[in-house]
Amino acid sequence: MVFYFSGTGNSLYVARKIAASCNDKIISVAECFKSNKFEFTLSEGEIAGFVFPVYFYGVPSIVKDFISKLKLNNYQPGTYTFSICTCGGNAGNAMKMFRRILRKNHFHLDSGFTVLMPDNYIILFDLLTPEKKREEILKLAEPQIALASECINEHKKNCFILENGIFPCFMTFTNYPVYNYGRSTKPFHSTDACVGCGQCEKICPHGMIHLVNGAPVWDKGKCTQCLACIHRCPERAIQHGKKTYKRGRYVNPNCNF
Ligand SMILES: Cc1cc2nc3c(=O)[nH]c(=O)nc-3n(C[C@H](O)[C@H](O)[C@H](O)COP(=O)(O)O)c2cc1C
Repeated sequence: MVFYFSGTGNSLYVARKIAASCNDKIISVAECFKSNKFEFTLSEGEIAGFVFPVYFYGVPSIVKDFISKLKLNNYQPGTYTFSICTCGGNAGNAMKMFRRILRKNHFHLDSGFTVLMPDNYIILFDLLTPEKKREEILKLAEPQIALASECINEHKKNCFILENGIFPCFMTFTNYPVYNYGRSTKPFHSTDACVGCGQCEKICPHGMIHLVNGAPVWDKGKCTQCLACIHRCPERAIQHGKKTYKRGRYVNPNCNF
């Protein structure tokens, strides 16, 4: 059973490939929250996997919350458990943080991998890579996914193939608190380009967007900042503050949601 969270498709693409190679199914963390379903049953010998993007060198808040709610019947000390983080540059200590979250909730981790994918964080910077380079990155991701898939299928233990970058502890320690305290929905808004299609309302993993008089309104509070609403708006009508007006948008081109 492969659980995944994905805002713009990179992690979904990886989860699908891994699940296909293991002949297993994928389960959307966002859908679990929408349907309030957190209890699952593993069949005999079934593996457990978790695929998600790196946020601020750490674990997305929604993934953290999900693990604390997850009940996996038949999960045993011998259940092979893996995780894959997709990231735009490097993961810092995200995998270590995830392992700690799993342990706290009585799960273990046998293997962990990072897969480098195009970066989708457009709140502070523009898309870091031009389209041509993105194609290259996606091509280069294939051998990383294949290697992870091989290790997972062989049930390799203590196998961690990670791109943590320099000073991973320091990067996570200094950046992750910024994520934790800065996820307000306040800067999100829509422009006149909005046609009221309701796509944003459907895709928000926390159900924090509602159409009011044909335009999206964000609930007050903190979201997980997956940026799915901005990147996947078909009219480019969603913005975060003023800076995203001129910035690019990204959705994994190999992934139909
Ligand atoms: C809020 C946020 C924070 C991010 N922080 C990092 C980071 O610390 N390191 C990194 O390499 N990429 C970072 N990224 C980029 C994503 O991890 C990367 O693009 C990922 O593949 C997106 O996955 P998805 O398409 O499944 O949502 C960040 C993206 C977002 C939206």
